[in-house]
Parts: sequence; C-alpha cells; structure tokens
Amino acid sequence: MLYVANWKMNMNAPQSTAFVLELNTLPLDNENTRVVICAPFVYLQHIQQLLDNKSSSLGAQNCASYDNGAYTGEISARMLAELNCDYCIIGHSERRTILKESNSDIAQKTLQLIQHEITPILCVGETAQEFSAQQTFQVLEDQLAPIAEALEPIESIFELCIAYEPVWSIGTGSIPSNQYIESVLQWLKNYCAHSMPQVENLYLLYGGSVDPIKAPELKLIPNLSGFLIGGASLDFKKFKNIVVC
Ligand code: PGA
Repeated sequence: MLYVANWKMNMNAPQSTAFVLELNTLPLDNENTRVVICAPFVYLQHIQQLLDNKSSSLGAQNCASYDNGAYTGEISARMLAELNCDYCIIGHSERRTILKESNSDIAQKTLQLIQHEITPILCVGETAQEFSAQQTFQVLEDQLAPIAEALEPIESIFELCIAYEPVWSIGTGSIPSNQYIESVLQWLKNYCAHSMPQVENLYLLYGGSVDPIKAPELKLIPNLSGFLIGGASLDFKKFKNIVVC
C-alpha cells in the first residue's frame, strides 16, 4: 500500500523536521508499504536530506506545465527530479477550482513528470452536484481523456498513480461507501487498460477524509493500492495509525 501525505500549504520547518524524524523510526514493511511525503516546495530539499526510512519517498504537490523558461514563480519537473522527488501530485481539486487548472494543463504536467521519471499522482473526482446527478463516470472520463491523448506518443510508462478524490469528500468527513469506491476503481482500471495500455504499473488510490478510524474498512476495497491523505497527515500519530492499522 502507498500512503501519500498531502500536507498542502501547512506545516512549518520545525514541524516538518519533527514529522520526518518520527517517520524515520517507524519500522515499515519495505516490500508492501511506501510512504510518500508531499511537502511544500520550500521544505523539499531539507526533507530529502533528512528522510532515511527505506520505505519512504519524497513528493511534491504540483509542477509546471513547461520544461523551462520565463515562467516566474513556477517549479519544473526537471527541478523536482534534481531534488530526487519520486512522486508529484497533480490535478488536485483545490488547484482545479482555486487556481483554475484545466485538464489540458494537467495533461502537460503529467507529460513533464513522466519525461523526468517522476511518478504522477493524478487526482480525479466529481463534485457533490455531479455525484447527485450520477455523472461521476462522465466526469472521470472528461478528466482523463486529455491525459490519455497527451500520453499516446509515449511507448512505455513505468508507473502512474490515479487518486480518486470525490471533491465532496475532501476535508468534510463524508466518505462514499466501499461499494461505490470499488465501482469507481474498477471503472478506472478498465479505462486505463483500454486508453493508457502503455502504463506498466497502475496504482489506484482513494483520497477524501481518510482517518485512522475509517482506514481499516477502506483497506478492504478491491483494487485499492493506497490513500492520499490530507488533514490526517498533519499529525504524525494519526498518519502512523492509518499506515499501521
Ligand atoms: P483530506 O484531504 O484527507 O483532508 O480530506 C485529502 C486531499 O485533499 O488530498
């Protein structure tokens, strides 16, 4: 299982240091468990130097759609690769809504990450309104089709993570039923087999209000490879209890 901590724009330098030092002491099953710390850009280098648990990796929360050039304030996938970032979240609903990222921006970012051998953690998911209108699969298809098209010329993609994050579940405490998540993961698996056959290793994650109480039941969902964890990843104890439950 993959446990991705999405710190968002939280934590400060001492808090992130304390978290990583505790994580370093956690005995994890190297074969079956991987923890990814997706920290704000400014902390990445420090965390990279500190992180020495063999089951953990460094991740970013975004990257630029461009390779390099006059894009003030942007951080490229190339720069993240230089810091040994193995993963990068892209297309999070907060970036889609607050920063108006489009599906084609996200497709370009996916491409940049793959070109620099960083595993994309691509977030997809429907709003509450779309959920009520039973449009989830249509929304997922609209979000994924531009990515599949952008990736078409690439012959082989080693690894792709897709995080199903219903927007209405992020930070709200509401979680869809296990059956519902299972049906979405099955749909994603079929979609990728058909539209992104060059992906060698596909990991399907769930994200949205994952906490230590709900995690054990969520772990029973077939085809689930891990979690994208927001709020509960800010507190080491809570995060640890999700990983070890
Ligand atoms: P949450 O956030 O766990 O606080 O719901 C998840 C996310 O936004 O990735």
